[in-house]
Amino acid sequence: MFKNVIVRKPSKNMVEGITSAPELGKPDYKLALKQHEDYINALKSCGVEVTKLEEDDRYPDSCFVEDVAVLTRKCAIITNPGALSRKGEEKEIIETIKKFYKEDKIEYIKGSATLEGGDVMMVGDHFYVGLSDRTNKEGINQFISILKKYGLTGSAVEMKEFLHLKTGVAYLENNNMLVSGEFVDHPDFKKYNKIVIDEEDQYSANSIWVNDKVLVPKGYEKTKKAIENAGYEVIVVDTSEYRKLDGGLSCLSLRF
Ligand code: GLY
Repeated sequence: MFKNVIVRKPSKNMVEGITSAPELGKPDYKLALKQHEDYINALKSCGVEVTKLEEDDRYPDSCFVEDVAVLTRKCAIITNPGALSRKGEEKEIIETIKKFYKEDKIEYIKGSATLEGGDVMMVGDHFYVGLSDRTNKEGINQFISILKKYGLTGSAVEMKEFLHLKTGVAYLENNNMLVSGEFVDHPDFKKYNKIVIDEEDQYSANSIWVNDKVLVPKGYEKTKKAIENAGYEVIVVDTSEYRKLDGGLSCLSLRF
């Protein structure tokens, strides 16, 4: 179960955030702020305490706070973003992480190693890490060495299609996993009960489990029904403005 969540208010510069889908247009900042508040309320309804950080104008993508740290039950790992415009963002989370973890339990991805939290999927004490354009082999090696120190394990996941690992796969606990695209038949996820997301609904693979409820993006009725049929209470959250920046429900928070 998660007790805490950290989010960062989007800055007005979010409209300059990285996107692979410029055809969707620039985000509407006012609407994005409203959606962020709705997201926080949805999280609170799952019984977590939400820490909301101030906006940071220097980093257009800084509301996607998931990418700058990985928070486990034994340690916190400050990442090293692979996207140039996001380098340095990770330093801005450290003071907050110190409120939740002792300094000797805070680790760092260093040097030329890159890793973004969107590429890390926690399944109990095991962490799958996508080898993506943002996370390199060295990043994964450093990450797995850190996990080992704490009795945790990790493994690299080969991938080609998605921005981040969790763009296309989500673990919903109880051995249930949402899978889409290249992850539907991925050998690493063979042992899970797979809920397969249709090609046209791929964005909804980025749903999140929070204390036995599942937050699902608005507009994906089939995904919502499939998750409900698997026994979960679903909360629908509109993320249209974040989608324009390749962002989704998981990217917007650190849950621990
Ligand atoms: N726009 C989110 C990201 O690319 O990191």
